[in-house]
Amino acid sequence: MKKINFNKGWKFTLGNSLDEFNTFGLDKYSDAAGAAARFYDHCNWENVDLPHDWAPSLQKSPYANSFAGAYPNTSFHRFMIERHSNLDTVYNIGWYRKQFAYDAEWAGKRIFIEFEGIFRDAIVWVNGIYLDRHNSGYTTFAIDITDHLVEGEDNSVAVHVDSEQAEGWWYEGSGIYRNVNLLIGEPVYFKYHQNVIRTELDGYVDASAILVNDCPELAEQTVTWQVYDANGTEVASAKTAPVSIEAYGEKQVKVRMKVDAPHLWSVDTPYLYTLVMRAGEEESTERFGIRTATFDPDRGFLLNGKPIKVRGACVHQDFGGVGVALTDNLQYYKIKRLKEMGVNAYRASHNAPSPALLDACDELGMLVMDETRMFGTSPEAVRQLTDLIERDRNHPCVIIWSLGNEEFSIQNEVWSYRLMEKVTRIAKRLDPTRAVTYGGNNGADFVGANGAAEVRGINYIRNGVSGEWLDHYHREHPTQPIIGTEESSYVISRGGAVNDLEKGLLDSTGNVTMPWGSTPKGWVKYMEKRDHFAGSFMWTGFDYRGEPNPFYYTNNVSSFGTIDLCGMEKPPFYYYKAWWTDEPVLKLTPHWNHKVGDKVTVAVFTNCEEIGLYLNGKLLETRKVERFDAPLFEVEYEAGVLSVEGKRGDVLLRDELVTSGDTAEVRCHSVLEIQNEDDIGIYEISAFDENGVF
Ligand code: GAL
Repeated sequence: MKKINFNKGWKFTLGNSLDEFNTFGLDKYSDAAGAAARFYDHCNWENVDLPHDWAPSLQKSPYANSFAGAYPNTSFHRFMIERHSNLDTVYNIGWYRKQFAYDAEWAGKRIFIEFEGIFRDAIVWVNGIYLDRHNSGYTTFAIDITDHLVEGEDNSVAVHVDSEQAEGWWYEGSGIYRNVNLLIGEPVYFKYHQNVIRTELDGYVDASAILVNDCPELAEQTVTWQVYDANGTEVASAKTAPVSIEAYGEKQVKVRMKVDAPHLWSVDTPYLYTLVMRAGEEESTERFGIRTATFDPDRGFLLNGKPIKVRGACVHQDFGGVGVALTDNLQYYKIKRLKEMGVNAYRASHNAPSPALLDACDELGMLVMDETRMFGTSPEAVRQLTDLIERDRNHPCVIIWSLGNEEFSIQNEVWSYRLMEKVTRIAKRLDPTRAVTYGGNNGADFVGANGAAEVRGINYIRNGVSGEWLDHYHREHPTQPIIGTEESSYVISRGGAVNDLEKGLLDSTGNVTMPWGSTPKGWVKYMEKRDHFAGSFMWTGFDYRGEPNPFYYTNNVSSFGTIDLCGMEKPPFYYYKAWWTDEPVLKLTPHWNHKVGDKVTVAVFTNCEEIGLYLNGKLLETRKVERFDAPLFEVEYEAGVLSVEGKRGDVLLRDELVTSGDTAEVRCHSVLEIQNEDDIGIYEISAFDENGVF
């Protein structure tokens, strides 16, 4: 199918118009009324291009849930205002409409509209015909609209979105916040999300697809398969014997091909091949990588048969300014930032990520734990898991499926073993090539869901306990591989020097943790020293709206991120960079503007073998740095220059903090360039004193 971006030229309005009689138009075909009608005067609505999240532009409210970002777009707000005030505006419902001309080239083709993600409870009409509802705020769906389009005329699509019901305990946004596409296929077309590619390290590629015949007569088709390398050279091909597909029926086609001397996909060399499948005029393209991903109880995670420590980050999907409506270039930017820090794995916590995010991970070399939002065997949960796996199973970056996270009301129940076991089977039927896990926050418990987990997911080893219980767990269950699904949960601010919870201040060392969390070196030392431990995911790579622990309203953004909401690194970024990359690193933090006589905690993040700390040129202390360590110093403040020097191999390094005066100049520089009209740019603004000191 051909994909056409359908993001531009939408109309949007906040609030309800479901009060119209017969909005759904259930009684007569094409008879929906009001904003759902084929023609409707939406001139006064706002002009929007997608992706679009209306929540960040709402006024934050003390009646809203600060753990969801304090925006009045969820039921929590309704609940609070009913008790506290007369505010009655509806902020959780939005309508989108788009009027579009019928393209003459569509005649005789099949036209689908694909929504990559809507938060949430979406209802879709085309030309006043009620087509479908989609509840999940995270899964992608497509609807065949061909039979409802009017050739040669103006057509319309209307979408009603309701974010009242939260799916999580964090900021989730509101609206059509991912791309919308039109998919154009032939009358005999490759079925949506049914192209499956499996590879072996010696270059064997097994591919299958389902052909759908949307014609009133029998169709006969020959399928050709061509594999291209990254330079566009054909490296394998095959042809399927003619298949006949009955009228309005479907049939699976399969081949096995071989790529000679294959380039393997890895974190350092994310090599991608492209498979092009053709059946008559119909064409479908899939990117894939040749690689294996396995978990071993003794050796941890193996990529292409070799152990590689998962040095991961959990990430929610929002970002500064845009809420959850990230353009594709922002998704790439986030992955690049994580890679700079030395992170090699991304946990899509706790929901299906956007397709562009996975494309970025495929291209840039980032492993992914791909997670479904809803755990269990309910029809909705199974639908969500199926949608996730069918959409994402050809991405080489995806190495494991997470089937749930911290279902603490049931995870200890004996019967949750059965749930986990059954969902595992469903996942394996859709994709037998990947392991599955579950993020359990119930320590060493084996009864229930954890016992059935193919790979045991540990949310938090906990600091201080130094993970002894987990070593014991491993001895008790030696055949179950282990991965740290969540770790760290320290709270830090960018450049902060003081911890004063009353005033909402946090320092930037990473030494203040939630009761279940660990300092950067706490969890990293634990996992790096154990071969059987596949690795862990820090909570979180980036800050996100909501969960402002340890604060409440008016604070409404988390402090867990090693990178802040705008993409700027906090000091522990350099801790990970020091120990997870080969680059020489020496970073002194927090800043050097204090009161004379203050005792300041200074942190140094470095991979130098030895460092010396100087105040105004006078050596204060030298220190040897052990692997995975993060030295802290107490320094009595005196204005001037605090500096650190160190050596890594032959490389001499130096960093300094200088006392700054009042702002004399503000500089702005572009961090992320706008390359095309779909992009969003990022600009960084910094203040300098008259001597040019930051
Ligand atoms: C975990 C949870 C995450 C986040 C985190 C904060 O228990 O899975 O979603 O809430 O705690 O520390």
